[in-house]
Amino acid sequence: MSGLPKVELHLHLEGAAPPTFIRGLAKEKHLDISGIFDERGNYRYRDFRDFLKVYEAATSALRTPGDYQRLALAVLEESAASGVVYSETFVSPDFCGGRDLGAWREYLHAMQEAADQAERQMGITLRGIVTCIRHFGPEKARGTARCAAETAGDWIVGFGIAGDEKIGAPKDFRWAFDCAREAGLRLTAHAGEWGGPESVRAALQDLEVERIGHGVRAIEDPALVDELAERGTVLEVCPGSNVALGIYKDFREHPIDALDRRGVKVTISTDDPPFFHTTMVREYEELHRAFDWDEGQFRKIARQSLDAAFCDADTKAKIAKKLE
Ligand code: HPA
Ligand code: ZN
Repeated sequence: MSGLPKVELHLHLEGAAPPTFIRGLAKEKHLDISGIFDERGNYRYRDFRDFLKVYEAATSALRTPGDYQRLALAVLEESAASGVVYSETFVSPDFCGGRDLGAWREYLHAMQEAADQAERQMGITLRGIVTCIRHFGPEKARGTARCAAETAGDWIVGFGIAGDEKIGAPKDFRWAFDCAREAGLRLTAHAGEWGGPESVRAALQDLEVERIGHGVRAIEDPALVDELAERGTVLEVCPGSNVALGIYKDFREHPIDALDRRGVKVTISTDDPPFFHTTMVREYEELHRAFDWDEGQFRKIARQSLDAAFCDADTKAKIAKKLE
């Protein structure tokens, strides 16, 4: 099962940086972020808010386009080793280059170079989703959306929002999402991870996104589950992330199986693999163990994921051949 070809729709590039990689960069830059690691060298965080702080501190070591190029290549190597043939990665201009469009283009170029190399050498295809950060506020998100809109195209295919879903409201980000939509970008929003079903409803109503990052806490509202199934809204489910952040006790308690049975389109992703001690192979193994999911189920989900991908039709057709 774990050798099956996989499609991943929800991976944060910055959050996929291994602790060793970040420690190396911090050393080069004489940056003291030793407090974010435990005695074994892993990322250390207490809860969701603390995770976001540690995430930002780790990201502060990523400074140059070259850092992002090396990171993208390392992450793609890891994903390809897990059997991923297509990956959509969130990347935030707020972390690289600020809102300076000129600088953002340089970072983007560096990531695309890595993606091209990985495609040639490892047969994995990468696309980018620009993401704003909710707790950085709507004003900053406008600048982020402008960067996204200016660089929308074959490679930047979507716009999203991550961060603390208990701060502010989706409607505050309407301008940013409209700006991205008008540039032809496809839309997704983190919701229903740390926040409840009302957070998912707000993202759908106020941002009109077609995918939801996580969305799993919709399970607490049966009418919302029906609505998601009817609308065909795709959930970018990251079970290992939810378990690591204590939203569910273990994989058996996770609602992915129940959502799938109720007709919601679920997909499988890792979110921030080194933070959550996961890989796509581990997600598959744990889901197989918890719910007895078989090869047919995983193949169905990979096709469902590709259907929901934001890339163009030609790219999808090429990837579809790898899923046969
Ligand atoms: N949730 C919200 N923001 C994030 C996450 C997440 O799981 N990962 C990186 N930023
Ligand atoms: Zn995420």
